[in-house]
Amino acid sequence: MRLSNCHNFKDFRKLARKRLPSPIFHYIDGGSDDEVTYRRNTQAYDEVDLVPNILNDVTDVDLSTNIFGKKLDLPFYCAPTALQRLFHYDGERAVALAAQKYGTMFGVSSLGTVSVEEIGGMIDSPKMFQFYFHKDRGLNKSLLDRAREANFDVLALTVDTITGGNRERDLRTGFTSPPRLTPSSLMSFVCKPQWGINYLTKPKFELPHLQDYVGAGTDITVSVGQYFETMLDQSMSWSDAEDLCASWGGHFALKGVMSVADAKRAVDIGCTGLIVSNHGGRQLDGARAPFDQLEEIVDAVGDKIDVICEGGIQRGTHVLKALSVGAKACSGGRLYLYALAGAGQAGVERALLQFKGEIERGMKLMGCTSINQLNRNNLRYRDFQRNHQL
Ligand code: LAC
Repeated sequence: MRLSNCHNFKDFRKLARKRLPSPIFHYIDGGSDDEVTYRRNTQAYDEVDLVPNILNDVTDVDLSTNIFGKKLDLPFYCAPTALQRLFHYDGERAVALAAQKYGTMFGVSSLGTVSVEEIGGMIDSPKMFQFYFHKDRGLNKSLLDRAREANFDVLALTVDTITGGNRERDLRTGFTSPPRLTPSSLMSFVCKPQWGINYLTKPKFELPHLQDYVGAGTDITVSVGQYFETMLDQSMSWSDAEDLCASWGGHFALKGVMSVADAKRAVDIGCTGLIVSNHGGRQLDGARAPFDQLEEIVDAVGDKIDVICEGGIQRGTHVLKALSVGAKACSGGRLYLYALAGAGQAGVERALLQFKGEIERGMKLMGCTSINQLNRNNLRYRDFQRNHQL
């Protein structure tokens, strides 16, 4: 499997599997418990079919969308994800440059391995900073100040990691950050010598947003679950989110909203957007798929704030379906992470280009020239009852 043979999401996944030591591949690839939600996130898209229209001069198709006061050239963006240096030695640098090239937004995680200052100095395209609410208020203030100074456009508070999801693949492989060699993981690293050489010879793994505050997660090896449990503040409440939104003072989103009640409350505390997400099926297994929840959330708040649908997206037509329901944009992690792991910036660029091509082709075949022409008339659920709700 080579980059030139990657034609879709599944191909990039195969390439990543070939390049990465298995604990790292499974960290990206896995979900929680029985991975029901993880699978469901993608399957949900198969329960609704697109109904195309014809004869509409689709010579020129505009894929742009406006979210958080910014125009994106594509109706999807690269969601913030943690620890990218583990997947490829260029880490977030590669994704930032690829996102800028295609005119879309890039999200940097609190657990990013390249600093917001460096990313801010590198790209002038829209940037989101993903915020974890730590017990250490000094760390929270530092994250906020640094993201602001670095000219990030949107702050997204993650609200679905109040404790660690049960990621059994990580338990089995012994995944930690940074990676720790154990007798059981040794072979998986030995089998991928090129990854090991790059890990040792290229820029060092670090967590620049956390390192001045804590040893845990930076100097010592720690699992992601341990990080969530020991460092994040489980007392986080609506008033904390409201305070954070006010102190940020700019575009602000909650990432991981699944219920209508919470969506309405997000509007009340001043959010300008929300991300319907279950953390890629990595947290609460059995949670509903974002696409299944999208309709009721759009109906409740879609005219007040930007609603983004995140998770499970593997095809351009998945994006078309979410936009038809009323999402302003979609986002995803694995949709570029496998490509990053497989081939760095060139991989991410190829993934974004293919994704863009899939959406553009889908739009033409749907008879649409701009994304606001997509609407619920273009959809029919296989479950006949559900069509009545459209
Ligand atoms: C994860 C976090 C760190 O899902 O976003 O692993």
